[in-house]
Amino acid sequence: MKLLERVIKNAQEYQKRIVLPEGSEPRTLRATEIILKESIARIILLGNPGEIAKVAEEIGVNIKGAVIVDPKTDSRRSAYADVMVEIRKSKGLTKEAALDMLNDPLVFAPLMIKNGDADGEIAGAVNATGDVLRPAFQFVKTLPGVSVVSGAFLMFVNDPHFGHDGILVFADCAVMPDPDERQLAEIAVTTAKTAKAIVGMEPRIAMLSFSTKGSAAHPLVDKVANATRIAKEMDPSLKIDGEMQLDAALMPDVAKLKAPDSEVAGRANVLVFPGLEAANIGYKLVQRLANAEAIGPVLQGMAAPINDLSRGCSVSDIVNMVAITSNQAAAVFEK
Ligand code: ACO
Repeated sequence: MKLLERVIKNAQEYQKRIVLPEGSEPRTLRATEIILKESIARIILLGNPGEIAKVAEEIGVNIKGAVIVDPKTDSRRSAYADVMVEIRKSKGLTKEAALDMLNDPLVFAPLMIKNGDADGEIAGAVNATGDVLRPAFQFVKTLPGVSVVSGAFLMFVNDPHFGHDGILVFADCAVMPDPDERQLAEIAVTTAKTAKAIVGMEPRIAMLSFSTKGSAAHPLVDKVANATRIAKEMDPSLKIDGEMQLDAALMPDVAKLKAPDSEVAGRANVLVFPGLEAANIGYKLVQRLANAEAIGPVLQGMAAPINDLSRGCSVSDIVNMVAITSNQAAAVFEK
């Protein structure tokens, strides 16, 4: 796991301010203790200060050094509400409704980022993906030129012959249930950026399907072939090919038979799945049956790094995601 060591070392250098809206959640507090002790990031916990202190004491963790902010009483509420009303005036948002929304830490956190009071956010240890993402979509929005946020997983498989020394990036495993061909193309382009920024790999992207280079005829196959073409138009420097089956993407012997002229087939390190069903099932298959480490989802395409945890996450998952989010914050704002 040299990659994670590098990501943590970078984070220690960047010292980004990461806001954790689930401030009284025990795994979040245990992770906070580790992050502060190892100086991985500066931490802002949202919630009732008395309740946070009580849980911290009950589970015996030291969170001294974390900034605790209560969304219900914070002095910035009115200013944040004005920003919200401005962003959503076409949707008729009133100041009163905005102030009410700000009681929810999952709304307050993106507003902190929007106003430059935090650099990144992580939530999802107790909240569903949609509830974490919706306020982020509405108030932080996407990067210029990007219309969809998607989620990538870094997959660490136990065979260095695959991917980039055993690391592959899978997408979109988390957000868009049924992307159209343009959205799928965008997912490929943004995943290539994540692969470069976080893993440091030269992306070779396989656009996956149940067909390789026209071996089957179906509208679903056309969608992936068209997305491949559009992605190439969006970024002509991309090494991308499709549509192709998973075996053609990963196995050199199969690639020779099914896609002999491809510069990607047989050596892909980025796998873009045709939809969320295949992607979400696919990454969990590799994680569970092949015992691969899966880190993510790393959300990509958002104007600031906001990441969602799985509700089954461990303390070390939270620590790792804080480090990854800090690296993303540095990539988004400083490069
Ligand atoms: N990128 C950017 N903005 C988006 C996206 C996106 N991918 N999806 C929705 N939005 C925006 C919309 O434009 C809309 O903005 P507006 O209010 O300014 O008009 C806002 O977000 C809400 O849009 P809705 O269409 O109402 O979105 P909804 O809330 O119904 O759904 C969601 C969005 C929650 C992300 C949905 O697509 C979803 O549930 N996806 C699956 C998530 C999931 O369950 N993943 C699997 C689990 S994760 C795991 O296993 C690791």
